[in-house]
Amino acid sequence: MDFSGKVVLVTGASAGIGAATARLFAARGARLALVGRNERNLRATAAACAQPAPGDTPLALVADLATDDGCQLVATQVLQHFGRLDVLVNNAGVGARTNLEKTDMETFDRVFNTDVRGVYNLTRLLAPALIAAKGNIVNISSISATVVVVGTLPYGMAKAALDHFTRLTALELAPKGVRVNTVSPGITVSDFVKRLTGYDDEEYKSWLKVAETTVPMGRVCSAEDVAKTIVFLASDDAALITGTTVQVDGGSALSSGAGTSSLFTQQIKN
Ligand SMILES: NC(=O)c1ccc[n+]([C@@H]2O[C@H](COP(=O)([O-])OP(=O)(O)OC[C@H]3O[C@@H](n4cnc5c(N)ncnc54)[C@H](OP(=O)(O)O)[C@@H]3O)[C@@H](O)[C@H]2O)c1
Repeated sequence: MDFSGKVVLVTGASAGIGAATARLFAARGARLALVGRNERNLRATAAACAQPAPGDTPLALVADLATDDGCQLVATQVLQHFGRLDVLVNNAGVGARTNLEKTDMETFDRVFNTDVRGVYNLTRLLAPALIAAKGNIVNISSISATVVVVGTLPYGMAKAALDHFTRLTALELAPKGVRVNTVSPGITVSDFVKRLTGYDDEEYKSWLKVAETTVPMGRVCSAEDVAKTIVFLASDDAALITGTTVQVDGGSALSSGAGTSSLFTQQIKN
């Protein structure tokens, strides 16, 4: 899994899964473009990424991918800076904790604008470069796309749309030599879950403890567990893998039901 000479763009690289993915690509020799909204965190990720040439640093782009301007800025800057793109990792995403009776349209728009519209837009803008490089795309979805759990509305809907986006674009781009795949994490230790528990340390810890009991393999994912699968799918070792969804979840999607369901129901905001 050598990425020497390849340019990799990771969105949502300022935290969690995206930051771990950026570090792993860097260790495999990739030249990196990183996107996030929090500049300080993004720069911290960039600093933790070893780059192939001495003194080289990843291109760190502060942008809101839920906006058209943000997507355009990222696409333009990446191509101006590197002149090519080999791998696009659409990882930036936001969750929500709501259900039909509690929800509002602001939540729907926030989730869909980031998790669906932003991915659609950025991929559209960068598709010509990926075709030119015969590159590939890895979309980060969630087991919430397929596991039906009350409390994951509208996040689960958005990720289900993303899964089908992978299948449709994989078929469209296969004749052009571009692969498109999805990685679907189960519960993963990151700020994503902390945010859903209102950054309450005690609640977060007890939530994680209960969550572990729902995972058949006995532990929740680390960001690194997910990053390793992303990097594999982006590599030439996966040369004939396209249109797939790989779940990294310790078997959670097979057995979710009561356990995970009650965890999410508890989180619905009042
Ligand atoms: N953690 C889990 O349990 C879990 C499970 C299944 C799937 N996932 C998926 O995995 C992906 C990464 O999640 P994570 O756990 O690493 O979450 P995280 O720690 O909250 O990180 C999310 C990343 O997305 C970025 N982001 C969010 N909205 C953005 C926007 N509008 N424009 C640009 N960047 C934006 C954030 O940047 P800033 O902070 O700089 O704004 C951050 O870098 C997401 O797509 C999520 O849905 C996570």
